Amino acid sequence: MLGIKNLQPTDIALILETADRFKEVINRPIKKVPSLRDITIANVFFENSTRTRLSFELAERRLSADVLNFAAAQSSVKKGETLLDTVNNILAMKVDMIVIRHASPGVPHFLSQRINAAIVNAGDGTHEHPTQALLDAYSIKEKLGRIQGVKVAIIGDISHSRVALSNIYALQKLGAEVMVCGPKTLLPKHIDTLGVKVETDVRKALAWCDVANVLRIQLERQQGKYFPSLREYTLYFGINKALLDELDKEIVIMHPGPINRGIELSSDVADSHHSIILQQVENGVAVRMAVLYLLAEKLNPLQKLS
Ligand code: CP
Repeated sequence: MLGIKNLQPTDIALILETADRFKEVINRPIKKVPSLRDITIANVFFENSTRTRLSFELAERRLSADVLNFAAAQSSVKKGETLLDTVNNILAMKVDMIVIRHASPGVPHFLSQRINAAIVNAGDGTHEHPTQALLDAYSIKEKLGRIQGVKVAIIGDISHSRVALSNIYALQKLGAEVMVCGPKTLLPKHIDTLGVKVETDVRKALAWCDVANVLRIQLERQQGKYFPSLREYTLYFGINKALLDELDKEIVIMHPGPINRGIELSSDVADSHHSIILQQVENGVAVRMAVLYLLAEKLNPLQKLS
């Protein structure tokens, strides 16, 4: 699972259908199934994470896998060990699957050509975050009953967002219409090649869409000055209740987290009935269980999900 770009719509549909079955499992009193017993998975995180790391770990434990957690900040990476040496040393401990997050775009693809283990991309720099896009698609389908024909506006820092790119690929493959909205300086130069609508007026984007997926300004990935100040960004692109009250319809508000409250999204919207932000987090566990289960099925014949 290196990215969404090369998946077929039928692959995505299979993952979402499998996630439905796991959502039912994790809402039972006994939330665990033996499907990945005897499979060992290492969560290898070279970047900070709350939702992705914890939900992968929970998904692995719910599937009865053995779990190793590696955080680069507390590791021998700090003593100069290379990425490939680090991963090969983890694999030498008889690990079957690697879930990896890294600041450099392409790291999961680089590893896939050099190691013999299943790899799940948990976010590679500004490139892709496939399981986030899958859980976002799952959450839209759960909320609206369909993805085909739904209008989704992705609003914020599109240039530096792996969530934006994976969402564009996933939503288009599932038949949604996608718009990106943000300051021109935060739209990638190649945006015209992605087949999305482009808007720089947030009011027009909100008036057009059924779903607004609001993104954080990725200050940690920005090397230049893309707008004069955060206060001005909020003034022109922040989503608040006054903007939603101007609409003559209800829209769904999503955010992959972490939210910078009061910058891209006001608290009265993040915590309102419009928001499905915590449902996205809940669905992340079921979707990641589905991804791990389907990948592990390729490693070994598994016990049937029950
Ligand atoms: N959505 C997301 O990737 O959040 P984390 O950085 O906390 O994992």
